[in-house]
Amino acid sequence: MKVILFGGTGMVGRGVLRECLLDERVTAVLAVGRNATGVAHDKLREIRHADLLDLAAIEGELGGHDACFFCLGVSSAGMGERAYRRVTYDFTLSVAETLARLSPGSAFVYVSGVGTDAQGRAMWARVKGETENALLALPLEAYMFRPGYIQPMHGVTSRTRFYRLAYVVARPLYPLLRRWFGPGMTTTERIGQAMITVAERGAPKRILGPADINAL
Ligand SMILES: NC(=O)c1ccc[n+]([C@@H]2O[C@H](COP(=O)([O-])OP(=O)(O)OC[C@H]3O[C@@H](n4cnc5c(N)ncnc54)[C@H](OP(=O)(O)O)[C@@H]3O)[C@@H](O)[C@H]2O)c1
Repeated sequence: MKVILFGGTGMVGRGVLRECLLDERVTAVLAVGRNATGVAHDKLREIRHADLLDLAAIEGELGGHDACFFCLGVSSAGMGERAYRRVTYDFTLSVAETLARLSPGSAFVYVSGVGTDAQGRAMWARVKGETENALLALPLEAYMFRPGYIQPMHGVTSRTRFYRLAYVVARPLYPLLRRWFGPGMTTTERIGQAMITVAERGAPKRILGPADINAL
């Protein structure tokens, strides 16, 4: 399976990239981002491209893939709706609409989060919910991953300083967190493996919470 990865420099994306490179089901990964992942591997090729609202210059490279794992995203903390919507909705739909045209029927896995709700009161939940709904309406095999607490594995860290600090504080509490959250907690490793499985053979539903991700 040939995979395109967005957000490969982030916490979720790095975890997904690791699993893709280790998994025999994935034969090639094309990572697209404004920064390089810093990873070197025979299966990995990278394209540096900053303007995701204009993909014309790289369109020729995007066709012929079986799946896109879209792990690009930002925290809404301190962001106005316009700026948050631009990254969350506009970037995602720009990529997904392009892939729907180039490779209709291919898999598209989007990482939103627990609490995503197009009718929700929180701005982030609404924007992510609208993004999910728009993706589900495209001619793609689209799946929405809604993780809650994610434990970063294998040295993966967040791009967001606040989260990096939070994970350092939380690390000694992992055994307790695992007991409290139970199946509501997932890991970067499980998310990566679940994405590959969903792209390979689908899933019973299009919107998958932490327990669904762990089950996959
Ligand atoms: N971390 C969690 O616990 C958690 C839980 C539930 C859901 N999620 C969701 O999962 C997604 C990924 O989260 P994460 O923790 O991996 O975030 P992260 O570590 O902050 O990484 C964000 C990724 O998005 C890219 N990105 C952000 N803004 C961009 C922009 N303007 N243009 C191009 N690329 C941009 C970053 O690229 P650069 O390297 O170029 O900055 C990076 O690859 C988000 O949508 C988040 O809401 C995360």
